[in-house]
Amino acid sequence: MTEINSLKGFYDRYPEDYVSFRKLVDTVEETAKEFGFREINTPNVEKTDLYRVKSGDELLDQTYSFKDKGDREITLIPEQTPTRARLVQQRKDLKTPIKWYDTSKRWRYEDVQKGRDREFFQGDFDIFGVESVEADAEVIAAAATIYKKLGVEKRVNFLVNDRKLLESVLNSQGVEKTETAMKIIDDKEKMTGEEFLEELESEGLDTREAEKVDEVTSISGPIKETVEELKEKTPEAAEESVKRMEDLANALEAYGVEDLCRLDLSIVRGLAYYTGLVFEAFDTEGELRALFGGGRYDNLVGLFGDREVPAVGFAFGYSPTIELLKKEDKWPLKDVETDVYVLTVSEDVRDTGLEYAKKLRDHGLSVETDLTGRGFGGQLGYADSINAERVLIIGKRDLENNEVTMKHMESGEEEKLDKNEVINHLESENFV
Ligand code: HAM
Repeated sequence: MTEINSLKGFYDRYPEDYVSFRKLVDTVEETAKEFGFREINTPNVEKTDLYRVKSGDELLDQTYSFKDKGDREITLIPEQTPTRARLVQQRKDLKTPIKWYDTSKRWRYEDVQKGRDREFFQGDFDIFGVESVEADAEVIAAAATIYKKLGVEKRVNFLVNDRKLLESVLNSQGVEKTETAMKIIDDKEKMTGEEFLEELESEGLDTREAEKVDEVTSISGPIKETVEELKEKTPEAAEESVKRMEDLANALEAYGVEDLCRLDLSIVRGLAYYTGLVFEAFDTEGELRALFGGGRYDNLVGLFGDREVPAVGFAFGYSPTIELLKKEDKWPLKDVETDVYVLTVSEDVRDTGLEYAKKLRDHGLSVETDLTGRGFGGQLGYADSINAERVLIIGKRDLENNEVTMKHMESGEEEKLDKNEVINHLESENFV
């Protein structure tokens, strides 16, 4: 006998787990639909070159990459953004704005920890073809709406920044090596203050520059107030990006989510393709890794052909969000459900039971019947284990009296019904 377990960081989801997972997917997708995003479905395997274009070394180091039997270099998708850029480039006839969502699996060879798996789900939302802050605000509003629906928006810090803004503020403070600094800023939260300064200096910044980077990236607060603070601090060079952040704050206010968001100059994000806005969310206690992340990537589509299309979007992280819901005692979101279990008291009424089951299913209910030939007690126990709301008991003697019995599982109450009136009765109770 060989015992084989799943790979580290890959999860088996049994029905009692998956029912909550599905509910979370539904919440995310409902939100996408409410905002007018359309669903797409794309390959889970791509040519490795797709990620060499612009995803950055960190992501490439983490990919599951192989050679297929035709000796092609292929990769299990670690994210969907480059695939989407390829799709947009491929179809020049698509009318903008293009708004897409999907929920599917991704693979990254990461150190496994809470909320960080090797096989995981992301929910991607992107808007292509809109350069203005309205699209930026809309994707952030969609993300915030998900957490509002889950009832945990107050436990989430929505952190917003703009790489261009950060760059010009750093420049205005005399920091030249902004590209080098950005890479280190991305890891700032994982380091102590001292380590951060040391790292900057070891990459060629002088002590004064390193301190400036530390000072600037410590700026964090409500967007409007922080924008005002920046206006005083920075000269003309940063004017345009400061103005854009101000416009974003106003647009977020119109979407009713401005009060959830903060401007935080330490947010830069690891992926190399972002060109301006970047945003990321963390739990307010700072224990979990990012719940979702995204930004604006106006040049990525253009790298795959002659069509330049601005884009902004984010990926919702299922695992870290589930960890947050667990911390907040909001998980599981749902239990396995069954509307009616049709219990047949003896073998000779099984066919009648199946007829009732069919009728109930025709009315849209989820119905189970006995498939195993279990006795009364066994069937009732099973009905309880699948959380059946009602049990319709079909017995020979009842039928001879033109009756069946309906048991309400929660209260334990039973009522006799006319055998021809079951559906009518359920209709009168708004059960069907
Ligand atoms: P990302 O920051 O790499 O961005 O991932 C987005 C989110 O996916 C993370 O914040 C996290 O919640 C979740 N996630 C990432 N890695 C893992 C993992 N190993 N296990 C569980 N969850 C994980 C992107 O992927 C961009 N493509 C997002 C984007 C879409 N930007 C624009 N459009």
